[in-house]
Amino acid sequence: MPDEKADTIKCPNPECEFEIDTTGLVTKCPKCGQDLVAVLHELGQVRRSRAGIARDESATTHEFIVRTKGLIKEYVMGDITVRALDGVDLDVRRGEYLSIMGPSGSGKSTLFNMVGGLDKPSSGTCFIDEVDMAQLDAFELAWLRCRKIGYIFQTFNLIPVMTAMENVTLPMIFAGMGADEMLDRGRELLDLVGLGERWSHKPPELSGGQQQRVAIARALANAPAIILADEPTGNLDLRTGREIIELLKELNDRDEVTIISATHDLKMIEASDRVVHIRDGKVERIDKREDLSIDVGTIDGEEEV
Ligand SMILES: Nc1ncnc2c1ncn2[C@@H]1O[C@H](COP(=O)(O)OP(=O)(O)OP(=O)(O)O)[C@@H](O)[C@H]1O
Ligand SMILES: [Mg+2]
Repeated sequence: MPDEKADTIKCPNPECEFEIDTTGLVTKCPKCGQDLVAVLHELGQVRRSRAGIARDESATTHEFIVRTKGLIKEYVMGDITVRALDGVDLDVRRGEYLSIMGPSGSGKSTLFNMVGGLDKPSSGTCFIDEVDMAQLDAFELAWLRCRKIGYIFQTFNLIPVMTAMENVTLPMIFAGMGADEMLDRGRELLDLVGLGERWSHKPPELSGGQQQRVAIARALANAPAIILADEPTGNLDLRTGREIIELLKELNDRDEVTIISATHDLKMIEASDRVVHIRDGKVERIDKREDLSIDVGTIDGEEEV
């Protein structure tokens, strides 16, 4: 029986027993190559049956799904300290579509890493559904990441040797879902993103736009309340990028999934309820939807939005 509180497991191969971090998307032991799916599934079921602060269902009625207070993140490299976030206060409403815009190096990805529980702030607080992430133990944080947040990246980050179906159902293994339920949901999600027919294809056999659709289906695997998308259209052409944004917007309207998307892409503005501009790790200004059409119309040389 895996230790429910640990976020590492010992490789089940008695000749290896390597300590494996289960918070990443590993399915094979990095040392001996032992298949870990069965033991990860068992761990998921143990985690699923354990109640904790992070799964307080009453918390789902809070108005703000994300709140950050005075978020500071400093990276120290030798004598140099880079302040990537410099006191970010941001409240995100449940069901909102929020775009985060800012020049390269302004702190967008760093902010995502803090909100997504992938890294810890140097100081300040980040609340998800009014739960202070800093108060969670490793298990609770893993549960929160797995069940409440879906991640989409610029480079898709699919596992190349797995089929579309296996990529989409992978987070369900970590959530301890049964095999039949997993396949049903995998099919439903691939249909939703328009790739029902391509379930057996591996990422190298799919176009960039199709891969990003698989990544969106994977992000939705465990019905998260929040999708964090870091430049989801950054590697796509204009038209495919627009299709991806339309899909995200549809999910936002249909399922009230809160979408927080970092972007340089002005097309994103069209779908947004608010646009947060960040510069040098600070929130410079926040534009509301009603202010946007005026601003967007005046942006020189951009395609129509
Ligand atoms: N792991 C790290 N170690 C050191 N410095 C880092 C690290 N990650 C980010 N930074 C620095 O923090 C600042 C913010 O980086 P971040 O990646 O958040 O910017 P960004 O807005 O996402 O940029 P881009 O649009 O290019 O993706 C930059 O100065 C960057 O060099
Ligand atoms: Mg970035």
